[in-house]
Amino acid sequence: MPSYVVTGASRGIGLQFVKHLSTDEQNQVFAVVRNKATANFLHELGRKNVTIVEADVTDAKALNRAAAEVGKATNNKLDYLINNAGSASFLGWTIDQFPNSEELEKDLIDTFRNNTIAVVHSTNAFLPLLKNGPTKKVLTLSGASGHLGFTLHANAPGMVSYSIAKAALNMAVAKFAAQYRAEGFVFLSICPGMVDTTATQTAPPSEGAMEELKLLSKGLSSVMPSIPAPISPEESVKMQLDVFNSWPAERSGEMVSHFGNETRWI
Ligand SMILES: NC(=O)c1ccc[n+]([C@@H]2O[C@H](COP(=O)([O-])OP(=O)(O)OC[C@H]3O[C@@H](n4cnc5c(N)ncnc54)[C@H](OP(=O)(O)O)[C@@H]3O)[C@@H](O)[C@H]2O)c1
Repeated sequence: MPSYVVTGASRGIGLQFVKHLSTDEQNQVFAVVRNKATANFLHELGRKNVTIVEADVTDAKALNRAAAEVGKATNNKLDYLINNAGSASFLGWTIDQFPNSEELEKDLIDTFRNNTIAVVHSTNAFLPLLKNGPTKKVLTLSGASGHLGFTLHANAPGMVSYSIAKAALNMAVAKFAAQYRAEGFVFLSICPGMVDTTATQTAPPSEGAMEELKLLSKGLSSVMPSIPAPISPEESVKMQLDVFNSWPAERSGEMVSHFGNETRWI
């Protein structure tokens, strides 16, 4: 019975991972959410092989409690960890446009905590269970905007704190890969593509988010004649799992797109 932990499972891509993985009744899926009471999409899904577990991913102690809860149900083993939870402030400001250095610093630190430190805590919390399991695979959701090549090629000056945090996240994943290669672990950072998650969004997009989109489109249009429409969570999750499930152990720790390479991102 393969076991999966998916963080940030209340909505968006994380929710789709849970839906997709739990269609196979053999899979045991643990959906980690910040707030069980408001995880309505998961409650509506109502699948027997899905267990909702509560943890804010910035809280190392809460993640350790979540891991203990999972361990109780799995005889202290875990096959797959999917570090999906993440967030962006999307203020619409480039690196030199923040109103003052305090706001810039706050945004950098908050975004780093939620996208980078959170994944380090989550991976550390579930590592003991993963070590006991036969599979030892960890997929982490990063973003093209945290990739140096994409940022320079697409002339993408926006999503400042988010991009910096995801770039650091890629290095954190590489550190885990380097440490655990000899034990047979496979770590992979992946960009899920440009994914339309509006169907499960809890708030409408902010003005800043619209500005970020304009900034990205402006940069991209200099290298792409037409920008493809966002893909669905269903399509993204299928493509990510195709890449992840066939990812070779000797390339553990890399960061790729949902196409499985570092050249095509959307
Ligand atoms: N959508 C895209 O086009 C895109 C592109 C590149 C990368 N990504 C990455 O893909 C991942 C999923 O993105 P998405 O578009 O599905 O985002 P989303 O729709 O905004 O969903 C984010 C999920 O993460 C959870 N989350 C955020 N902070 C958390 C915390 N501190 N503790 C626990 N849960 C937390 C949210 O829970 P709540 O419901 O409690 O807020 C929600 O379930 C993220 O890492 C994102 O950076 C997405």
